[in-house]
Amino acid sequence: MVFCLPNGMKPRVFSGVQPSGDLHIGNYLGALKNWVKMQADYECIYCIVDLHAVTIYQIPSELRAKIRELAGLFLAVGIDPKQATVMVQSSVPAHAELAWMLTCVTPVGWLQRMTQYKAKAATQETVGDGLLQYPVLMAADILLYQAQIVPVGDDQTQHLELTRDIAQRFNSLYGETFVMPQTHLPLVGARIMGLDDPESKMSKSSSAPGHAVALLDPPDVIRKKIMRATTDSRPAVNFDDLGPGVRNLLNIFQAFSDWSDAEMRAHFEGLGYGETKKRVAEMVIASLEPIQRRYREVCAEPGYIDRVLREGAERVLPIANSTIELVKERMGLYTFAS
Ligand code: TYM
Repeated sequence: MVFCLPNGMKPRVFSGVQPSGDLHIGNYLGALKNWVKMQADYECIYCIVDLHAVTIYQIPSELRAKIRELAGLFLAVGIDPKQATVMVQSSVPAHAELAWMLTCVTPVGWLQRMTQYKAKAATQETVGDGLLQYPVLMAADILLYQAQIVPVGDDQTQHLELTRDIAQRFNSLYGETFVMPQTHLPLVGARIMGLDDPESKMSKSSSAPGHAVALLDPPDVIRKKIMRATTDSRPAVNFDDLGPGVRNLLNIFQAFSDWSDAEMRAHFEGLGYGETKKRVAEMVIASLEPIQRRYREVCAEPGYIDRVLREGAERVLPIANSTIELVKERMGLYTFAS
């Protein structure tokens, strides 16, 4: 799907990942794989959202390391900094600035209804205000760049709906200001489930050892996790009656391989679960091997990651500043007389 603008300009894409926990195959298949595909046809901005990560306490030294690891992984999966912009959220202060302005037009009830807020708040002894404001900051990320398209996994659709609601409310109060962003989900892989519990989504925050395959897991660890994945008591794969565990494994295989439904059926129908898991594990290992190799290369190049992040911030700064100027002007906030 290619969105066209009348003047031949490329539509703008924005998306982000939190530098918390280990990046897993759900993040890759739900978001990053799509990001790589889009970079040739769109003007893409891919962001490491560190201000979002600190809505839950992070050990500072670990957060610093995670930001660089994530940047390295963006590059390793195939994001090309010559085509797409890779940047860190806190390096462009306008994200936080716009978030404040949007907070002022967002009813608190909208935020209290967010399912991710309710789920995360339930795990915290003290709920920081940042956790409630999380989706407003996310709206600011997107609206700051007037992004038309936001490629994400299925778990972010509610946040994207809220982003549109906030933009609409702002536009109706202050006049047309923000472009309405569209959610872009992958056809396969939008919601990868936990290997240990196929009823809940694979999540970076789970500490269960067999829950997720991390992008940097070595082959023997991947094999072990997939061979131990929860399935059911049916004897073999039956596409007309798939249990959630097997469906998830086949989904993972299909998202990595890009096979059609017909190819999947021809290959897996009637196959025992042991052999099915072996084939899924080998597909995952083979797909992650070049990413892991490239990751080692990227990290071995002194200064490379920092250079990419600095250039990324410099590249987006004029867009961010012009949106802030427009929003200030619309809201009647003070701007220096020219
Ligand atoms: P985060 O860091 O939780 O996840 C990053 C991306 O991975 C997708 N994802 C999944 N896709 C399929 N299956 C899964 N199990 C799975 N788990 C995660 C997410 O949908 C996401 O696309 N709030 C966002 C970060 C963010 C953002 C933004 C995204 C901040 N500002 C602006 C887009 C635009 C988040 O926590 O993603």
